[in-house]
Amino acid sequence: MTLILAHRGYAAEYPENTMLAFKEAEKAGADGLELDVQMTRDGELVVIHDEKVDRTTDGTGLVKDYSLEDLRKLDARFKFKELPKKEQIPTLDEVLEWLSGTGMICNIELKNSIIPYVGMEEKVINKVRHYNLTDRIIISSFNHYSIVHSYLLAPEIEIAPLLSEGLYMPWIYAQSIKAKGFHPHWRAAPDQIVSASLESGIEVRPYTVNKESELERLFKVNCSAVITDDPAKAKRIREMQSAR
Ligand code: G3P
Ligand code: CA
Repeated sequence: MTLILAHRGYAAEYPENTMLAFKEAEKAGADGLELDVQMTRDGELVVIHDEKVDRTTDGTGLVKDYSLEDLRKLDARFKFKELPKKEQIPTLDEVLEWLSGTGMICNIELKNSIIPYVGMEEKVINKVRHYNLTDRIIISSFNHYSIVHSYLLAPEIEIAPLLSEGLYMPWIYAQSIKAKGFHPHWRAAPDQIVSASLESGIEVRPYTVNKESELERLFKVNCSAVITDDPAKAKRIREMQSAR
């Protein structure tokens, strides 16, 4: 069965990368989450997509220039202003602690391609181990040096390279860096690539699959997982398809 991973939580209906979006994704029946990690000035791991807080909060400036204390004062509701209460930028600890009480898996994306956060891999691994989540976490990044570094530090935690463009025989590349899967942009995941990868024992989890026709296609080809903003819609389509 194709798993449904909620991209930045249930980002289609709730403020992305907030506890609210993660909890609502679970309620919607997602099998797992995808989230993004950046690092504060005082070395704390926080869950936010952009290097800057400007787009998703009421603050301005780079995450790396904020202390955790000041970052936590920001309101991350951004375009969902009608929500009754303020949403904070979560710490990775907060998410993992909550996740450990659920049955979900989680794809942690290290956002270290633009700012090379020193020590980010070690810190993430320590937290994943602390919450006994090594078998439910997949560490991904567009920075492939970083995921290889993660694998060398913690071979028990799965890694997956993010691929924004189509690669020639991506399953061979994944095997070469000891990844059990890869996460391509959905346009870089045609049926032949998905099937050939699965036949080689390499999982494929395309992002960000929101179009109904693409969800249907990827369920049909029995893709390992889809990373989507709308887990409820994906679940509906998956159920309809399996009832046929
Ligand atoms: O992990 C898949 C996807 O989230 C990568 O792109 O920009 O949405 O973090 P982005
Ligand atoms: Ca991401």
